[in-house]
Amino acid sequence: MEVIQSKEELQELIAAWRDEDEHVALVPTMGNLHQGHGRLVEIAREHAERVVVSVYVNPTQFGEGEDFEEYPRTLERDTRRLKHVGADVLFVPDDDTVYPFGHDCATVVSVPGLTENFCGAVRPGHFDGVTTVVARLFAIVQPEVAVFGQKDYQQQLVIRYMTEDLSLPIRIITAATVREDDGLAMSSRNAYLTEEERLVAPKLHQVLEQIGARLQSGDRDFAVMEQEGADELGAAGFKLDYLAIRRAENLTQPDRDCDDLVVLAAGKLGKARLIDNVVVTV
Ligand code: PAF
Repeated sequence: MEVIQSKEELQELIAAWRDEDEHVALVPTMGNLHQGHGRLVEIAREHAERVVVSVYVNPTQFGEGEDFEEYPRTLERDTRRLKHVGADVLFVPDDDTVYPFGHDCATVVSVPGLTENFCGAVRPGHFDGVTTVVARLFAIVQPEVAVFGQKDYQQQLVIRYMTEDLSLPIRIITAATVREDDGLAMSSRNAYLTEEERLVAPKLHQVLEQIGARLQSGDRDFAVMEQEGADELGAAGFKLDYLAIRRAENLTQPDRDCDDLVVLAAGKLGKARLIDNVVVTV
């Protein structure tokens, strides 16, 4: 596996692959990689001969008072993990490569509508940062395929929207969330949990699963299920940002006949902001 910092060097290598008719998949990450990222690489490999993984802690998607400074930077360990899972290139651009004119003068890619609620409401500007950096990574790498995790459900929808709206010739693949044995979604931010909080954290997934089961069995009292779920998580110690049942395709309010639903939730447990979802196809 090659570790490449320069955009020119990466593009030269990709051009050589293209001469051999090889396709490229991109897995954008912010590093501190875990098994979930390993799975994204495996899935990328199923769709392309070459896999590029980017590690870049993108400053523009962190709000004031968020964890940009303390976000774990673990490049040596990430490099070992990526070698192990068989990525072809680890791309580690610096700020000047991603934002040649600086963050403050950067062209911003912004998706309306879909970004207004949920994580977009709690973290103003967050999705502008995500779409802006992902568009830049897409422009640098020009992959045929890009893989994102389902854990960040709203994020993958927003990226799909952007890709389609800008007619980018990139197939977006959403990979199922990889979980710990007790159901907790794997996340770099789980490292912020204390031992006690770690025992409570799987409750988030349990509550979403319970609501998923009720939906499957025909319960359509959405507001009641949302409130009961929020109460249960609140009682367990979560400071919930939201828990909502929505249409899976666009996060709008579902009606009783909707058969493609997602139950999404995010909230803080101590210092860690946890996020998870369950998709329910009835
Ligand atoms: O999901 C993430 O890790 C980030 O939001 C992403 C997509 C790599 C953009 O910085």
